[in-house]
Amino acid sequence: MKILAIESSCDETAAAVVEDGRTVLSSVIASQVAEHIKFGGVVPEIASRYHTEAISSVVSQALTDASCKLSDIDALAVTFAPGLIGALLVGVNFAKGLSYSAGLPLVPVHHLRSHIAANYICNKDLEPPFLCLVVSGGHSHIIEVLDYTHFNIIGRTHDDAAGEALDKAARAMGLPYPGGLNMDKLCADGDDKAYQFPRPRVDNCPYDFSFSGLKTAVLNTIHNAKQKNEEISIKDLGASYMNAVTRCLVENLEAAANELGYDKIVLAGGVSANSVLRKKTEDFCNRTNRKLYLPQLSLCGDNAAMVGAQAYFEYKSGNKAGLSLNAIASLPIDYI
Ligand code: KG4
Ligand code: ZN
Repeated sequence: MKILAIESSCDETAAAVVEDGRTVLSSVIASQVAEHIKFGGVVPEIASRYHTEAISSVVSQALTDASCKLSDIDALAVTFAPGLIGALLVGVNFAKGLSYSAGLPLVPVHHLRSHIAANYICNKDLEPPFLCLVVSGGHSHIIEVLDYTHFNIIGRTHDDAAGEALDKAARAMGLPYPGGLNMDKLCADGDDKAYQFPRPRVDNCPYDFSFSGLKTAVLNTIHNAKQKNEEISIKDLGASYMNAVTRCLVENLEAAANELGYDKIVLAGGVSANSVLRKKTEDFCNRTNRKLYLPQLSLCGDNAAMVGAQAYFEYKSGNKAGLSLNAIASLPIDYI
């Protein structure tokens, strides 16, 4: 079954053709990073505008790259939630129009489900159940993936998401957007013990996260150094901060895996590209004899191939949308 998938939840306009949930025939991404860099973050209104300009040619290119005509496609899929509402609406409305005109079924895909499904593309043997750490710009969850379309959230953030915490600290350190990515590039080989950070815990919620205190600690470190006219090593500060953030993520993941008895561990979402997180999770899985599945770097960030992958399993489980489908800015992964 060939699915033409569309993604526009944030600042990437993407389309892909994916066969049977695991084989990518094409994947096109038009990134808007260059447009948002001068603002230090994504400007929602600008994102919507660029999606509108790019979507038609991105979808055509995906069909061309897959050597497909629309008549070769069996279903359409689109990210409908969660994300920036104006950005999501561009993809949803385009997909609805195409579904109507081509007479193709339309599959609604939840953004976090698709991040998890990125792993089905590059790990052909991966099947649920497994335990997944989903870390992106907007979410930090530890999730039991019970089967392809059933999820149980067992850990979540009480304030900032991991990506947000990295981006905000990176901004305070003067690193360009996207901050998490640039902190990884520029600071990963710094001294990760040069600066000390607290280990935040959430009372009575052993798998939950809280990153806002870490972010404040970075700001305080920078301000204190400025007041005392002391030099800050951004490389060492970034390394120490990434160490602090990823320690929370991996320690909670390990505690959850022990408690719930999972031996298959999966990472997903934009932050799963982080070299420190990948290394720490690898160490934990090697030490405890668990099997680790990682998305390839090109599938960690937002793309439509992962949407096409998840859509296959959604379609098989009977999850289809009509022309009344709407975009939703905020929706839990276990919405159905
Ligand atoms: O999943 P994603 O592409 O978009 C959302 O759904 O939010 O995640 C974007 C987040 C941003 O916060 C970005 O800074 C972060 O992923 N990110 C990274 C890396 N690459 C992207 N964070 C740390 N290290 C990276 N290598
Ligand atoms: Zn994402």
